[in-house]
Amino acid sequence: MSAALSSDASPQAPRIASGDLSSDLSITDIELRELLHLATEIKRNPTRFATTLRHRYLSLLFEKPSLRTRLTFELAIKQLGGDAVASIGPIGDREPTKDIARNLDRWTNAIVARTFLQSTIDELAEWSSVPVINALSDMYHPCQSFADLQTIKERFETLAGIKLCFVGDGNNVAHSLLLNGARMGMTVCVACPVGYEPNADVLAQATQFARQNGGAVSVTNDPLVGVRSSQVVYTDVWTSMGQESEAAERIRTFAPFQVNSDLMNAASREAIFLHCLPAKRGQEVTDAVIESPQSAVFDQAENRLHAQKALLLMLLA
Ligand code: CP
Ligand code: NVA
Repeated sequence: MSAALSSDASPQAPRIASGDLSSDLSITDIELRELLHLATEIKRNPTRFATTLRHRYLSLLFEKPSLRTRLTFELAIKQLGGDAVASIGPIGDREPTKDIARNLDRWTNAIVARTFLQSTIDELAEWSSVPVINALSDMYHPCQSFADLQTIKERFETLAGIKLCFVGDGNNVAHSLLLNGARMGMTVCVACPVGYEPNADVLAQATQFARQNGGAVSVTNDPLVGVRSSQVVYTDVWTSMGQESEAAERIRTFAPFQVNSDLMNAASREAIFLHCLPAKRGQEVTDAVIESPQSAVFDQAENRLHAQKALLLMLLA
């Protein structure tokens, strides 16, 4: 814990040296640990930072729908003393993305962007003079993984040595869990159908993080093998936003990967169930599992607020 955080008199957040969160790779292992620690502090004492970001403004740019991410960023900045403005719709159609970045950075202190392509966030970050925060792209969902790790830490008091199995499509949510779980010393397994494995570069990077931090990373096409001895079973929709034309084929392909009571029973006895939400009950998860005492999905959703407050403080305070 940093000395600044132990003082109630002068609330100060540690800084993210890159000044940015365009992907999970923008933050270091140490900074991620500090972020999780700060998120816990904020959850415990939410009023402590109530004015720290006074007169700070966020631009929220969303190409895709959102409930949790958009509302928790709005609430987070408001509860820290600042405010947010939002623009919903395609980025780069009406004017070049690089021009959008150079408008928003004249008016606001950070840009929170949910895009179809990671390259759109990268371009915003290249041209913006203020931090750009990835609010979900085709490649990553870092803000989700921060809340996920906070939730796991609350349940098990530690992250190192905890085994998480992500059952489903090896894309954005799985990528951020692989990278950030591995750097916290977790064992992260992705159980997915053939052809839906995580990106090879992400896997290589996560493997390196795991080696450096005592964690492990693996991929299997057998969900029963994946969840064995897992303390966390995690899933996400089978059809991500933008993939709607593939929905019928995906429902067929992913059917054996449904998280149901049988699969939960194959995990560790103490296992919890996580889902980034929104969930399609009857597809990737049964109603019985998501409504069961093992389910921690609403703690996870709550922690989006606390973890993103920590992120905003580390970028803007
Ligand atoms: N989990 C998540 O990002 O939810 P939204 O799509 O509602 O923001
Ligand atoms: N994988 C999902 C996550 C939604 C929060 C999607 O990209 O639509």
